[in-house]
Formats: sequence, structure tokens, C-alpha cells
Amino acid sequence: MNNPSSSNGLITTIIIFGASGDLTQRKLIPSLFNLFRKRRTPKKFQVIGFGGTAFTDEQFREHLHTGLKEYAGYSFTEEEWNIFAPNLYYLQGKYTEAGDFTKLAEHLTALENGDANRLFYMALPPTLFPAIIDNLGTSGQLHENGGWRRVVLEKPFGTDLQSAQQLNLQVHKGLNESQIYRIDHYLGKETVQNILFTRFANTIFEPLWNRTYIDHVQITVAEKVGLEHRAGFYDGIGVLRDMFQNHLLQLLTLVAMEPPASFSASHLRNEKVKVLSAIQPMTPEQVSANTVRGQYKGYRSEAQVNPNSTTPTYAALRLYINNWRWKGVPFYLRSGKNLAEKQSQIIIQFKEPPLAMFPMQTMKPNILVLYLQPDEGLHVRFEAKAPDTVAETRSVDMEFRYSQAFGQTAIPEAYERLLLDAIQGDASLFTRADEVETAWSLIDPILQTWETHQTPSLAVYRPGSWGPPEGYELLARDGRRWLNEEASMMLEK
Ligand code: BG6
Repeated sequence: MNNPSSSNGLITTIIIFGASGDLTQRKLIPSLFNLFRKRRTPKKFQVIGFGGTAFTDEQFREHLHTGLKEYAGYSFTEEEWNIFAPNLYYLQGKYTEAGDFTKLAEHLTALENGDANRLFYMALPPTLFPAIIDNLGTSGQLHENGGWRRVVLEKPFGTDLQSAQQLNLQVHKGLNESQIYRIDHYLGKETVQNILFTRFANTIFEPLWNRTYIDHVQITVAEKVGLEHRAGFYDGIGVLRDMFQNHLLQLLTLVAMEPPASFSASHLRNEKVKVLSAIQPMTPEQVSANTVRGQYKGYRSEAQVNPNSTTPTYAALRLYINNWRWKGVPFYLRSGKNLAEKQSQIIIQFKEPPLAMFPMQTMKPNILVLYLQPDEGLHVRFEAKAPDTVAETRSVDMEFRYSQAFGQTAIPEAYERLLLDAIQGDASLFTRADEVETAWSLIDPILQTWETHQTPSLAVYRPGSWGPPEGYELLARDGRRWLNEEASMMLEK
């Protein structure tokens, strides 16, 4: 993974905008520190936090140290921290103030002492990206004279197709697409990357991976948590923008894409765009028939939520991919907050055998379950003859668990991989402009029908349940059901 040429011998500076915020303390610094402990950061590197809070370098380091103890999820020694901490600096400034960017440029020049690589990380809302990129451009900080310049953009990338297109136009004014790294942290998850490895590093799955053998696909990203402290952001945004436009559609592309010509960023992303382009945007009638929107009971009385809010906290969709591989195979996607469990999984249900030759009809269709989180692994359910019966079958399970195969600590935080890839210039796990826009073009018509026509009507569900009855009906109409509880039983065995 480590590619020494990526830092071309120069110092690499990571500039974090939004450095006094949550993401920096919870994810970015714990991930960078762990990379440093694993000796994967460039030999010469430093981090400059830029933010509104007044911190000295020392106070910034202390704030991050406190965060590490709480959020790192790994143990470290004070000695390691004492070697890492001197690489961290802080500069107070305003994102819209050109003068503060001149100060930043001077500060960088003084710290870098010659040519350097710079990774600008936007750990703040996208409304601020254009001003920051403009200011970086005007203060001459985006020129690749000597070292490289890259920008990491946090999600959400727009709130609909038009705002995403507008944002792309604005960021392209100062940057080439090859300098832009749009984050979807799901792509940094080991188990999500493993979807492609399962499919393309083996020969046993791919011959079956099509409409001839697969009955349907279920993608569930269920959250047990509610709004946490994010009601101000979430209300008016809702689950479709927050989870589907990015994470769930990304999972779908990985399950459904054709094998790319290579693992390069452009080949991989071309295939993902092809899958998204093969899904027809829905008409309002199709939105009524193929989508469910729900809100958990009690949502409207949460602090900072509009008491008449129709923001959905749950959604279920049925999508079809109109290409040779998938024509006619439904993909059921669902996600929600305040559900029974935290559980992200992909279930592939295979078709029944073409001929029922055994007299006892106890057979269940084969399923392959990719457990993305928690209990990461992969299970296959298949039928076996029950001993001492004439012809009865029982479902049995073949399993791979990460914790057993690789040990408890083998799964790193998604941001570690993403930060390292951005430093090394590998954009495979980041989303491209056309990919983001194509995803929005599928979500937009659903949002419009939901928000303008209030159709289908907003279903209410009990916190701690698996969502509203309408979510079950979506599958029941096709003679199917959500299989996650059966899949959980396989896990418990
Ligand atoms: C974020 C969403 O992108 O993903 C959150 O904004 C959600 O609302 C989170 O809770 C889920 O991520 P994970 O890694 O906990 O599954």
C-alpha cells in the first residue's frame, strides 16, 4: 500500500479546514496518527489546522490528544504521541477572509521551507467549499509548482442535482478533476472494498452473478442511533440525501458493476457510472409504486426539528438496472435511523432450482450474505440432506468471519485508508464528478415527488423496529420479504 514515490521526497503538508470541529478530532487525527504509528505517512509531513476557534499550537495539540483518548479505538503510548504531536500546528482564520489565506500562504511557506506537497482537507459544510477554493486560488496556493496540490471534499456533495452541478462548476474553476477527492467514507470500509475482491478475486461467484441465477438483491444499512447532535443538519435533508445518494448507491454499484479493465481509478469509476446510468430515473407514478418514506414516531418533538417536519428518517426503494446482466432483477435498498439494530448487509438471493425433484418441499433458496458491519464476514446458505430422513433438506451455512480469519484488530478505520490514498494520489475510492451527478439524477425525481406531491404518504414507524409496515409491503407485493432476520440467525449459530 505504501508508495514512497507519492511524496516525491518533498514534505507533505495536510491543511485541514474545519480543524476545530468534530470530524478532525474523532476521525482525521486518530486516522493520521495510526498511519504514522504504522509508518505509512510520508517521511516528512505536517498538519496545519485552520479554523474559527482561537487555539495556540499547544492548545490544538491538547484538544486532539483528548480526542484521541476518547475516539481512537486503539491503544497508543505517550511516547508515540510525543513524537507525533510536534507535527501539528494551528492557524486561526475565517474561510471567507482573503487576508487570512494570505496569512496561511505565508505560514505554509515558512513551515515548508521550499517545494512541498499540499493536501487541503475540507472538513466542513459544502457551502464553504467555493469560497475556500477561490481564496486558495487567489493566494496562489493551488499552483502545482514543484509539489502536488490536492483537495479532499467531505460529503454531502450538494443537496440535489442542480446544487451538485453548481458545486462541481465552482470547484472546477480552481482545480482539475484529477486534484479532487470527494469522500464517501463507505468506500474506505474494508468490507465494502471486499465486495469487489469477493467478486473478482474468485471464480466461483461471478459466473452466477447475473439475472439467470440471481432472484433479487437486498441492501440494508440500518442504524440504531437517531439524530445524535445533528438535528440542525438532518431536518430538511433526510435519509435519501444523507444515505442513499452516496452510501447505498455506491454499494449498489459495487455489487452490480462489470469487471473493470483494471483496478485504476478511471477504469473503476467508469464502470460505476455505467451501472448508475443503466438505472432509469423514476416517473412520479414509479415513485409511488417503488419507494417508501418513513419517519420514526417522536421525530417531530426532537430538539431543533420543525414540529411539522416531513423529513424522512427511513426509506426503502426498489430499483431496476436496465442492462444485459441485471434486466428484471429487483434491487431493494433500505436505510433508516432509530431502527432495531446497527446492521449493514447485502443479501443476494439466488433463484430456486429449475426442477423440484425432492418430494419434501422444505427447501429454501440459497442466499449469500455480505455482512459489512458489525460482525464483518460473508455467509452462504445452502441446502443439505438431513441425516436419517428420506428426502428432507435443511439449510446449512458456510461462513467466513473477519475476526476469526484475521483477528480482532484487522479492520482499520475507513478514514485511514482514504487519507493514505489521497496522500498517495489514488482516487479509486473517491467519487468522480459525473458519478456524483448521475447518482443525484436518480435521487432527484424521488425527492421531487416526495417533497412536492407528498406521495407516497409518510409512513410512521416505532423506534427500535425495522421500519414501517409499508417497507415490508414493498417486497410482499413481489412475493418476497426482507431476509435480514434470517441472516442474523445464521450469524448466531
Ligand atoms: C454518514 C451520515 O454519512 O454516515 C450519518 O451522514 C450516518 O447520518 C453515517 O450515521 C453512518 O456511517 P457508519 O460508518 O456509522 O455506518
